Amino acid sequence: MRSFSVVWNTTIIQKWVMAITGICLVVFLLAHLSGNLLVFLGPEHMNAYGVELREMFHGAAIWVVRLGLIVALILHVLSGIKLARLNRGAKAVRNDKVEHRTSTIASRSMIYTGLLVVVYVVYHLAHFTWGVAHGEYYHVVDHLGRHDVYRMVVDSFHQPLITITYVIAMIVTGLHLNHAISSALQTLGINHPRYTPMLRLAGPALGMLIVIGFLSIPLGIMFGLVK
Ligand code: HEM
Repeated sequence: MRSFSVVWNTTIIQKWVMAITGICLVVFLLAHLSGNLLVFLGPEHMNAYGVELREMFHGAAIWVVRLGLIVALILHVLSGIKLARLNRGAKAVRNDKVEHRTSTIASRSMIYTGLLVVVYVVYHLAHFTWGVAHGEYYHVVDHLGRHDVYRMVVDSFHQPLITITYVIAMIVTGLHLNHAISSALQTLGINHPRYTPMLRLAGPALGMLIVIGFLSIPLGIMFGLVK
């Protein structure tokens, strides 16, 4: 038991947990983004997609995904906090000025941007999943009696304060992803002398793509591209 806790408390194990759970969360974000972009195709597509998600495999699929997400998110946050502590402890012992110089602002701020993303996710669930924040937009059904996800999203982003909150949250998510994806690939040893420069660019590029995709929704609605 003692040896398990010794291994668990090592930086390398925490980095692996962080990388694997992080990749699961990025895969969720890509799937979530592609579903939400249906807003540009109109209410029929988006509301039908909402129903499909809830009814897939007699409603079991959504709960399997939710459970996986909860486990991934908890492990990701715990290993992030643990790593920040381990790094701080190591620095206090070595008083290592060189390491401080070589770590970038992005890598040092990961813990703060990560915690802000968690705060955003709680607000976001209260908004779109539980319907307790801005409940006036949640309780709407369309002409087929389905939860009107389209109207909920569009009406929400007609409110400047909600849009600004989401835009800020998406920028913070982008800052987190900018460093996270390359860092995960490096931890998992996905590198090759020939492809390293490309892989180093791939992380920020994918992060940027995800954020621009998400930003296009509140901004597209606010600027009248979707009514
Ligand atoms: C403008 C950007 C976004 C929009 C318009 C959006 C929209 C939505 C909607 C409509 C739902 C409820 C789906 C339903 O119950 O029918 C939802 C759920 C959710 N969103 Fe987002 N989302 C956005 C960005 C994000 C981001 C950046 C994250 C994570 C960092 C995220 C995480 C989640 C999670 C975890 C759920 C709960 C999924 C579930 O119920 O199983 N969303 N989102």
